[in-house]
Amino acid sequence: MSILISNREVANNVYLLTVEGNYQGAIGQFYMLRAWGNYPVLSRPISIFNREEGKIQFLYKVFGEGTGFISRLKPGDEIGLEGPFGNGFPHIERKVAMIGGGIGIAPFYYAAKQMPWADVYLGFGQEPYLVDEYKEVAANVVVNVGGRVLDELDVDVYDAIFVCGPHGMMHATYEKAKFSKADVYVSLEKRMACGVGACLVCSVICQNGNKRACADGPVFLATEVNFDAENGL
Ligand SMILES: Cc1cc2nc3c(=O)[nH]c(=O)nc-3n(C[C@H](O)[C@H](O)[C@H](O)COP(=O)(O)OP(=O)(O)OC[C@H]3O[C@@H](n4cnc5c(N)ncnc54)[C@H](O)[C@@H]3O)c2cc1C
Ligand code: FES
Repeated sequence: MSILISNREVANNVYLLTVEGNYQGAIGQFYMLRAWGNYPVLSRPISIFNREEGKIQFLYKVFGEGTGFISRLKPGDEIGLEGPFGNGFPHIERKVAMIGGGIGIAPFYYAAKQMPWADVYLGFGQEPYLVDEYKEVAANVVVNVGGRVLDELDVDVYDAIFVCGPHGMMHATYEKAKFSKADVYVSLEKRMACGVGACLVCSVICQNGNKRACADGPVFLATEVNFDAENGL
């Protein structure tokens, strides 16, 4: 178990959790978080927001019981972290756009620290949060509130585009960029159980059969994903 340093509400129902300890993890990887006993049965997957000497941070939105429970934790409380899991985003030393929609902005803080030359696009439905923090680590931050952040993107400028957010936004990014030179990488959110590739709960329909979001992803090249079949689920 690890000890909470802080659990700050940065916007309505959105929290920045800081946990003590030295943790591993690459951009786009995730941990399974657990702060309860037997129920809920499953731990909850949350992306690495930031990690540095002595601490790791997660940015999460309260949806249901698990995230609700975590949001009530106080400094000094204990939390279980298992990970890091999954295959994250590649490190690309060319022109990169990182597009986050809503809580999908979470992986791109640490990603921008690793690739400070990237342009970061943050899309919020209503209240924006942590924009100043992103501006401290990224060369160029574009913020859209209440509209479509994707409309701000000139796909022809980029060699790679990273997307995390609502499924429709990731599909739309792929459609917008599919005839450009940019490789599009999407981070897919699936319900997860084991988190390590054993249970197949997190299957993603790909062009060459099913893959596991937890072990083969959560980051996939958009060309691998069968969006039409996934949209029908
Ligand atoms: C690889 C990965 C990384 C993630 N990173 C983050 C992150 O950085 N920050 C963050 O806030 N959330 C993240 N999520 C989503 C997060 O795991 C879910 O919101 C959380 O598990 C919900 O748990 P709950 O007990 O609060 O809600 P539940 O009571 O289990 O469900 C409440 C609602 O959330 C939906 N939901 C539950 N699990 C998921 C899921 N895995 N994906 C999409 N919808 C779900 C349910 O359909 C339901 O409508 C990530 C998910 C994955 C798969
Ligand atoms: S969550 Fe079990 S295989 Fe992915």
